[in-house]
Amino acid sequence: MNRRRIYEGKAKVLYEGPEPGTLIQHFKDDATAFNAKKHELIEGKGVLNNRISEYLFTRLNEMGIPTHFIKRLNMREQLIRKVEIIPVEVVVRNVAAGSIAKRLGLEEGEPLPRTIIEFYYKSDKLDDPLVSEEHITAFGWAHPPEIDEMMALSLRINDFLSGLFLGVGIKLVDFKIEFGRQFDNDMMRILLADEISPDSCRLWDIASHDKLDKDRFRRDMGGLLEAYREVARRLGILTEDRNVTRSGPVLVASKKE
Ligand code: TMP
Ligand code: ASP
Repeated sequence: MNRRRIYEGKAKVLYEGPEPGTLIQHFKDDATAFNAKKHELIEGKGVLNNRISEYLFTRLNEMGIPTHFIKRLNMREQLIRKVEIIPVEVVVRNVAAGSIAKRLGLEEGEPLPRTIIEFYYKSDKLDDPLVSEEHITAFGWAHPPEIDEMMALSLRINDFLSGLFLGVGIKLVDFKIEFGRQFDNDMMRILLADEISPDSCRLWDIASHDKLDKDRFRRDMGGLLEAYREVARRLGILTEDRNVTRSGPVLVASKKE
């Protein structure tokens, strides 16, 4: 198809949308880690992330979180609102894992004293360094009210997603989100953008502590696709025969049926 490619990232491509102010977000099968030092194609990952992210963004839209998501178009693509991405990755952590465990000498799995929000400057060249609000405002990446808005939205998103995943037997350990500015005449609002998928979250099975996220790839554990499929299945996105009916979240207790 002859569409204009606007941007290509590690796991997604953005194309021009059918109407002004829209884009098409295409999910690739590429899995990368450590700023693409590690790279593999995992056939089917893009399809699963498209569905999982669609599901989560739809639920978030329904509860009044403003997001860029409009609708899913096909197996790999969704229609989104065009935003100006704020170059700050927001990481929300409930449990110690990954870089915070390493940086602060915490045991992986240790509950944190409270939910912690961190900011990383979006720069592949610099490996997305951890930054403070001071850096963000001093360098003009976002204004103080925008930071407040991103933090407030992040906490609401965390509360909602933690509950949603808990209901299907999954602990939301941490996740990364991105926000963008949408301009409407002389109005501006902050929308949740990008994706939320097992690529950008840590998801642990509550009973077995199995990792159901991209750490399986980062840590060479194998079984990435099966893990993502399990997340999709529990959310009620995929049925056993991998049809695309939506039956709603699957209670863990009723899993045997
Ligand atoms: P971290 O522990 O490596 O800092 O990761 C925190 C969370 O953010 C984890 O759920 C994975 C996610 N993440 C991304 O989505 N993209 C990234 O570039 C990094 C480093 C982490
Ligand atoms: N930093 C991302 C991750 O590890 C992907 C990448 O860096 O290539 O999740």
